[in-house]
Amino acid sequence: MKHFISISDHSTDDLRHMLDVARQLKAQLKESGRNEPILAGKTLAMIFEKPSLRTRVSFAVAMTQLGGNGLVLRQEEVGLATREPVEDVARVLSGMCDGIMARTFEHAKVTGLAKYSTVPVINALTDYNHPCQAMADLMTLEEHFGNLAGRTIAFIGDGNNVARSLAIACGKFAMRFILSAPVNYELPQDEVDAIRKKVPDLDFELVRDAQWAVKSADCIYTDTWISMGQEEQKAQRVKDFNGYQVNEALLAAAPRHAVVLHCLPAYRGLEITEEVMNSPKSLVFPEAENRLHFQKGLLAVLIGGK
Ligand code: CP
Ligand code: NVA
Repeated sequence: MKHFISISDHSTDDLRHMLDVARQLKAQLKESGRNEPILAGKTLAMIFEKPSLRTRVSFAVAMTQLGGNGLVLRQEEVGLATREPVEDVARVLSGMCDGIMARTFEHAKVTGLAKYSTVPVINALTDYNHPCQAMADLMTLEEHFGNLAGRTIAFIGDGNNVARSLAIACGKFAMRFILSAPVNYELPQDEVDAIRKKVPDLDFELVRDAQWAVKSADCIYTDTWISMGQEEQKAQRVKDFNGYQVNEALLAAAPRHAVVLHCLPAYRGLEITEEVMNSPKSLVFPEAENRLHFQKGLLAVLIGGK
């Protein structure tokens, strides 16, 4: 039994397999309008401490389309680590459900669930990372470019949870990851070193100048400057990220074939312009749809024995 907490915990072969199963299930759905009910009778408990649109809907719909059920548990009712200790929640849910998915502030809550759960635990975003997002992003890039190896992602903005998982994913698939972030918003060097220990092929570069960062990019990626839980820092962050907006001028500095990804939700006029969101280079909405398809691959492997 395996959990899905960080991409660095998994071999490239295992991750490749998840992407392949996801692609097959996507093709099956597109061709026949349905998937085989490989998760019939299975229930995924889904704990949310933070808001969500894509993650919640993609996991719920993935479970439904595979014949099972996704059960949403809001933090207000579960009280993970408040009403009940994490280990008790893990043990109780393990007795009734076939998998646990959790979106939490503290990463330790998700690793705590994994420690005590006897069913697979899936990280649906923590303050630390967002592995399901990064895998859906690779799926989207692979569909577009045909191959991942040798491709470069230039991540413009905050060295946050999404950036961290993407950097690791790139390291696993022989891709280059360039982070362009202002001072104090980069991934700390000791963390990059720690990631490199687990993912020796990590090809990571910090480039302060965003225009320079996108020069060789196949993909320009951005995310909000104000992650969930950082709302009070908004004014300061908007000031600090000046010069890191993904706009037409930045796209003009990138190769013509470069595409744009954003994990969403997007804040138009801050980290990305309306124009770029709607440009033909934007794969943002196919990327969002691939959240569903990757979740299916992941669930089929972790819970369905594929
Ligand atoms: N990208 C993403 O995880 O979106 P949600 O926060 O809406 O789930
Ligand atoms: N970095 C963002 C991602 C949202 C999907 C956040 O944590 O709010």
